[in-house]
Amino acid sequence: MGIPGSGKGTQAKILAKDYGFVHISTGDLLRALETDPNASVEELNSLKKMKEGKLVADDLVYKLAFHAIKENINNGKVVILDGAIRSIGQAEEYQRFFLNENLADKIVVLDMKLSDETAYKRLTKRKVCKDCGYIIPYSPDNEKKLVCEKCGGELYIRSDDNPATIQERIMKQGNNAIAPILDYYSGLGIVKTVNAEKDIQDVDLEVRKVLELE
Ligand code: AP5
Repeated sequence: MGIPGSGKGTQAKILAKDYGFVHISTGDLLRALETDPNASVEELNSLKKMKEGKLVADDLVYKLAFHAIKENINNGKVVILDGAIRSIGQAEEYQRFFLNENLADKIVVLDMKLSDETAYKRLTKRKVCKDCGYIIPYSPDNEKKLVCEKCGGELYIRSDDNPATIQERIMKQGNNAIAPILDYYSGLGIVKTVNAEKDIQDVDLEVRKVLELE
């Protein structure tokens, strides 16, 4: 869990690569619908909300996420959920799902603590690879790059990474919005917190430590 720009995707990709965990980002699943020939008109309409920085309908999130979780858990995989839970209603629905699937005692919530101010700065500078999904942090060198250093794919700026939509996302999905969800999980005693203000490598080290991976 973390506000937009807290590094959920960045850290999930590192763990997925190093430990073979499966990274399930509801944002990525929703963006993939745009090019899915089987997506319904209703589903495509939901994406308009995403482009405006608002949350999409709960049912669509459950459909995409629960299917992806089940598929991977049934194959014996460990799953990292990235941004999958963004309201108390969703937290409760996921909890019912976890209980039904006998997963409830296996869940750890990682709280990536970041200020809304740092989030805004990061998101206005982000680029992503169209082919491999690599997320590129800001640096004066990276600002000029047009192709991915990992795979040579084209770099793009997400349609929701413009200043107005970033502000809307931080208002609707920032620290005020996620505080009650973290309280809910604190009540279950399953929250581990990391300081996401540090640089990417140091956050990674802290994540591994609190998750007792090393
Ligand atoms: P989603 O794609 O999940 O976007 P988000 O939550 O806004 O989060 P981001 O992907 O923007 O940020 P991140 O935390 O992954 O940070 P990143 O690693 O990229 O969701 C998009 C939309 O889908 C939502 O707005 C909503 O409409 C919809 N949606 C999704 N799930 C939903 C749900 N459950 N219910 C309803 N609607 C839902 O890092 C950001 C930048 O910072 C990058 O450039 C990165 O390189 C850099 N960076 C990362 N870590 C560091 C660091 N430590 N130091 C310096 N730079 C860093």
